[in-house]
Amino acid sequence: MPASRLAVIVLAAGMGTRMKSDLPKVMHPLAGRPMIRHLMETVESLSPQEVVVVVGPGMDCVSEEVSPVRTVVQTDRLGTGHAVRQAREALAEFDGDVLVVFGDTPLITRETLTRMLAERRSVKNPAVVVLGFKPADPGHYGRLVVGAEGLKAIVEWKDANDEQRGIPLCNSGVMAIDGKRLWPLVERLSNANAKGEYYLTDVVALARGDGASCSFVLGEAEELLGVNSRQELAGAEAIVQRRLRQAAMEGGTTLIAPDSVWFSWDTRLGRDVTIWPHVVFGRGVVIGDGVTIKGFCHFEGCTIGDCVELGPFARLRPGAEIGDDAHIGNFVEVKKSSVEKGAKINHLAYVGDARVGAGANVGAGTITCNYDGFDKSFTDIGAGAFIGSNSSLVAPIKVGDGAIVGAGSVVTRDVSSGALAVARGNQMELAGWADRFRDRKKAAKAKG
Ligand code: UD1
Ligand code: CA
Repeated sequence: MPASRLAVIVLAAGMGTRMKSDLPKVMHPLAGRPMIRHLMETVESLSPQEVVVVVGPGMDCVSEEVSPVRTVVQTDRLGTGHAVRQAREALAEFDGDVLVVFGDTPLITRETLTRMLAERRSVKNPAVVVLGFKPADPGHYGRLVVGAEGLKAIVEWKDANDEQRGIPLCNSGVMAIDGKRLWPLVERLSNANAKGEYYLTDVVALARGDGASCSFVLGEAEELLGVNSRQELAGAEAIVQRRLRQAAMEGGTTLIAPDSVWFSWDTRLGRDVTIWPHVVFGRGVVIGDGVTIKGFCHFEGCTIGDCVELGPFARLRPGAEIGDDAHIGNFVEVKKSSVEKGAKINHLAYVGDARVGAGANVGAGTITCNYDGFDKSFTDIGAGAFIGSNSSLVAPIKVGDGAIVGAGSVVTRDVSSGALAVARGNQMELAGWADRFRDRKKAAKAKG
């Protein structure tokens, strides 16, 4: 149906000067991925026929991030209206609805955009639908001037008089515009205003002048937070984290202190997972069912089976694969290793580039010595093996199934299945030596 065709223009040409960063603003991460990705996902959920992202010069990283979506470069930043004009060629044939969103307003939801499109497609057939909101502090946002016949104009703060500055209804920047009327409106924008910019917002007054109607829908202030500074980035992160915590709890995870748990956008949690306070999830973490995560753990790029017990203070790094029923305890770091079903590494250990077989027990203070300064080597610990405390396993090395390594060993040769390996100095005993030593020392002190 032609009436439901949709194109989206994403404005992202601003460097974001106030971020004081070498990275384009929209590439700053929220929950571990660039804010533009969050927005693109929301945009894609509307299944638009066309999407064009307007970027600034030298923003190849943004183009790569949104690829295969098309980007056009706005060489001079002459305002939001000028930015939209850059998409004209790419959308020349398009006459459906055009949605304009801002790359630095990443928290907008699909529901809100859908409401705007419904308004745009309503019988009133407004030329422009603006997403308005009422922030606690209206600050320098543009204001919506509304009359009995709907939206009359948007005035930018710099251009507004005192009365207009008193209007609590603000412009979020998001607009749904009739594609048949967009380009003639955009062509007529002028830059005779306080900022000397081509304001997209002026299309409202222009459309009204043509006798068309315009309207607005109200959005939640939280969704429409614009990120212009590191403070606002932190504010946006807090909102994203709150949404992720909410989703985790709705999905059957217990968060004992939700505000202290930090998720990545892609964290996957099974059912009946319990997370104690102060746990941080980096990217690419998958947690099975019935897992208990005690406090102060840090995870990244790892996969956890069912009914695993983790922490407190466990660190799982990329490539850690923890099998069902395993235990990873305090101050244990696991990197690029598989810990198979029911294995236990309960205290103070480093396991890297290794396999820990099913049911094996790795004692306190065990280190896999995986790096010689040039290469990484593999440690293979067999099923049911027992590694005594404070052992160093110098890789490449293999400890067979069911073998025992005596505590304090530095193991440099493979250990056969079922064998005991002890690799440490032999204990010797000198009877009475300690007593004689003390007597000698005391006598010397007494002499002066
Ligand atoms: C804009 C609105 C204002 C609204 C506010 C909401 C206009 C004229 N004003 O103001 O009414 O309250 O957003 O946050 O639209 N951009 C380009 N090229 C440009 C200029 C901007 O791509 O030449 C992009 C920016 O990267 C950004 C977005 O457009 O993603 C908004 O630009 P910005 O300069 O931040 O507009 P505001 O002054 O905040
Ligand atoms: Ca802005």
